[in-house]
Amino acid sequence: MPKCTVNGKQIEVKPGTSIIEAFKEAGENIAHYCWHPGLSVAGVCRLCMVEIEGNPRLQIACNTMVQEGMVVSNQSDKVKDAVRWGLDFHLINHPLDCPICDQAGECGLQEQYMEFGKYEPEMAERKVKKRKVVDLGPKVVLDSERCILCSRCVRFTDEVTKTRELGIFNRGDRSEIGTFKDRPLDNNYSLNTVDICPVGALTSRDFRFRQRVWYLKNKETICTGCSTGCNVKAYYNEDGLFRVKPVHNEDINGYWMCDEGRDIYKFANPEFRLKTARKGTQDHWDDINVVEAAKSVGSIVKTSVDTDGAGSVAVVLTGQHSNEEYDAILEWINGDLKVDQVYHWVNNPEKFDDFDGLLLRGDRNPNTKGLLERLDARKLNKTWQDFETKLKAGTVKVVIVVGPENPAVYSDMGEKVQLINGVDKVVWMSACPVGELNTMTGTTWQIPLKTFVEKPGTYVNFQGRAQTVKPVTFLVKQALSVVEAVQLMAGEASKVELVEPEHHPKKNYFVYSRGPL
Ligand code: SF4
Ligand code: SF4
Ligand code: FES
Repeated sequence: MPKCTVNGKQIEVKPGTSIIEAFKEAGENIAHYCWHPGLSVAGVCRLCMVEIEGNPRLQIACNTMVQEGMVVSNQSDKVKDAVRWGLDFHLINHPLDCPICDQAGECGLQEQYMEFGKYEPEMAERKVKKRKVVDLGPKVVLDSERCILCSRCVRFTDEVTKTRELGIFNRGDRSEIGTFKDRPLDNNYSLNTVDICPVGALTSRDFRFRQRVWYLKNKETICTGCSTGCNVKAYYNEDGLFRVKPVHNEDINGYWMCDEGRDIYKFANPEFRLKTARKGTQDHWDDINVVEAAKSVGSIVKTSVDTDGAGSVAVVLTGQHSNEEYDAILEWINGDLKVDQVYHWVNNPEKFDDFDGLLLRGDRNPNTKGLLERLDARKLNKTWQDFETKLKAGTVKVVIVVGPENPAVYSDMGEKVQLINGVDKVVWMSACPVGELNTMTGTTWQIPLKTFVEKPGTYVNFQGRAQTVKPVTFLVKQALSVVEAVQLMAGEASKVELVEPEHHPKKNYFVYSRGPL
């Protein structure tokens, strides 16, 4: 293991470590644009300059490997001057549209400039104006004049997705990023190019102008869009969620996430949510308080078991909830009430085992594995066929459905509602309204549930890796987690607190238009 000294700190690194990686390991700051740990080394921006003891010329840190005993530093005036001039060159054609640029507040160019900027530029030339607001594909917009030609986006499509939609066209100061005429940037990972663009040249059509980043807070959580469980940061404020971005986890998602997963914030926003409990049938529904609704559902289930036996109640679970939620409902329904009719609702079964070769899995649920482990442990291995037979026989009087959090990945919602339509009493718990329930002929309760950003919980991904998350924010006051709903239903001393979502946006908040999500 080679030892080296980085800005006076002695560290030991793995053989084959570059100097820029050694800087990261030593916790030392180093300017860079083109280097990205998930991509090959290009060495084109020339910002990662360092001085190596014994070497008269400055070197770039991203393309120079650490050797035993190397002493490197980026603290000298010589290095700082080189970085300053490098930045000045990067700014020759870069427009100063920071006040309206969507990357303002998280722009690598701004950040480096603050630290290494040459505050008295000597450039008198007119800027070369390049294209503005070019649709590279359905999700990514290019402002070519902001591009510093670091080539990260091109390398991403060459090396990660291998779709090769992007290239650098023309020469010299006319060079531009672009797509081949008939091949837009339209792969399911295209928005990663926006994350890795160190300036505001690539922006997300979905997020562009929706909110200024300094009005957003963020917390880490996981994407619940499929059984991979990519690590993400959710960005939010009092108006709700605005975007999710990947967080590096070498064992799960590396540096990336898929474009489909980026949409998971949408269904959790208040405009899509079931805001209160409801009781009714077909066209007549009454809004009721969620606590009262859960308590009365609990006594209805208990009465049904006491009078008609445990076979009169059936529970349907999806792979969208946390281990803690499954444990709570199974302990009540199977442990206390001895109901063993618990069924696993599998969405898109024909694509369930698909894998796109990168991250996205056909199982569009975050916790199928956690659910199956729990059903197996309690020997609740009932088939869907068994459920249909019991429904036909008319022995089931009460059905509880812990429906999907994200209705977008359950295209068979209407079919399942029709299947249970006709049962005397149906309890449907879900985060979003289920329009199909307006056809119900029996008495039906709808209980609003929290989403993955509003509750703590553990999810087991397809590898069997358990990941525990904390709440990010609260968006709907009357929503319960399944744990809270079960506490109320089981008549336990409940700790349920209905949390008021924050809503006191500052006067100068900039929201262009949330528009259709
Ligand atoms: S668009 Fe962004 S990521 Fe691509 S080369 Fe330009 S600056 Fe780099
Ligand atoms: S691969 Fe799955 S978990 Fe990862 S971002 Fe896409 S949908 Fe989300
Ligand atoms: S980061 Fe080393 S040359 Fe760009």
